[in-house]
Amino acid sequence: ESKKLWGGRFTKPLNTQLDTLNSSIHLDKRMYAEDIVGSQAYARSLKTAELLSDDEVTAICDGLEKVKLEWESGEFLIKEGDEDIHTANERRLKELIGEPATKLHVGRSRNDQVITDMKLWLRSALHKLIELLKELIQVMIKKAGREIDILMPGYTHLQKAQPVRWSHWILSHAWTLKNDANRLREILKRTNVMPLGSGALAGNPFDIDRNVLAYSLGFDGVTQNSMQAVSDRDFVVEFLFCASLIGTHLSRLAEDLIIFSTKEFGFVAVDESFSTGSSLMPQKRNPDSLELIRGIGGSIFGECCGFMMVLKGLPSTYNKDLQSDKEAMFNSFDRLLSILKVTVGTVETLKVNPSKCVEALSFEMLATDLAYYLVRRNVPFREAHHLAGKVVAEAERKKVYIQDLTLEELRNISVHFDADVAKVWNYENSVEQYQAIGGTSKTSVISQIELLKSWLTTE
Ligand code: ARG
Repeated sequence: ESKKLWGGRFTKPLNTQLDTLNSSIHLDKRMYAEDIVGSQAYARSLKTAELLSDDEVTAICDGLEKVKLEWESGEFLIKEGDEDIHTANERRLKELIGEPATKLHVGRSRNDQVITDMKLWLRSALHKLIELLKELIQVMIKKAGREIDILMPGYTHLQKAQPVRWSHWILSHAWTLKNDANRLREILKRTNVMPLGSGALAGNPFDIDRNVLAYSLGFDGVTQNSMQAVSDRDFVVEFLFCASLIGTHLSRLAEDLIIFSTKEFGFVAVDESFSTGSSLMPQKRNPDSLELIRGIGGSIFGECCGFMMVLKGLPSTYNKDLQSDKEAMFNSFDRLLSILKVTVGTVETLKVNPSKCVEALSFEMLATDLAYYLVRRNVPFREAHHLAGKVVAEAERKKVYIQDLTLEELRNISVHFDADVAKVWNYENSVEQYQAIGGTSKTSVISQIELLKSWLTTE
């Protein structure tokens, strides 16, 4: 006879290879607490529906509490036939309290049970990630405030473009992460809708009050179509996508820092505690923290991509293919959590080298400013751009720095150049021009810090 909970109509045991493949307990035991809370709440609604007596509900709820303690203390013994967390908890409950345990599953299916567990689990996972993102933003804000006076080259195409504040660069990443945190909050709303009471696919035939049940489990509402409810893994996909996007953002941050930490740039030094050495080359100090963030960040997208392929082409409602949802969800969460933590530490301990940043600036990067100088003297921008370009070319031809061209040489290019053109060759003046919201001037950077701070405290 089959040892399975569903074994009534079976005479043969499950093939052992298939049993291993089919079993998900090694992964979904992670949701033991959610499974138990969900069952306790469900038992209470069975009482309202007069399917369980007071005593039976008490026995079930207390028994489940004991099961939970066993999981917590590591005493829970997984037995043959425990193919997933749902069957394992029910089997153990029956061992502990006997008959009332056999009444718990009435009207319920593992199909609505498993997604209820997952949604409860994901809810707290999302909160954890949001908190960690906020911590990282906090670290960035602090750094940006302290190091606001440092100027460095800003790059486009990885070519020197215009001078910017180092803090402006830091905050560019902080703003992205703020959007990420908000995105997680959005999916939290859509995740927090209760599927329990959908049964296997057709609904619940007993007099349970799903709204009360949802309320008691902290859900914001209930699903409105049982077939949709048991089919739906969009909350998982949305999470996988958001996790992938955050992974991408952390990866881009890491890539900037990997470049900035090379000897050739030298803008930053990754702390020893976040670097490793080489087994062969004694001098090496490698930014492994950042490389792991970059690599693992990418691999999260693999989970998203893989699970989308599982969903595509599935017929309606529950199919066993869906069981891989948990692996994708847990893997993505674990990876994201670990790289977020390492990012917090790496950024927190990062040392910036202000002189290296400034040394990397060159006056050529102020060619735009030279054009703006002419614009402020009523030269149309296109013409000014062209003239400033000629100045660059002239300096190249003469093999001198752009700022070393004489006024006469400049006036040969345009009569609009005057002695005060010398003022252009100042990086501080250059960044301070960018006063409009979002620019790299000091006031703008300070107001960015203030805005992010108030977001951190109010959200
Ligand atoms: N372990 C299963 C899963 O994770 C639970 C649902 C099983 N449902 C079923 N009809 N076999 O998907």
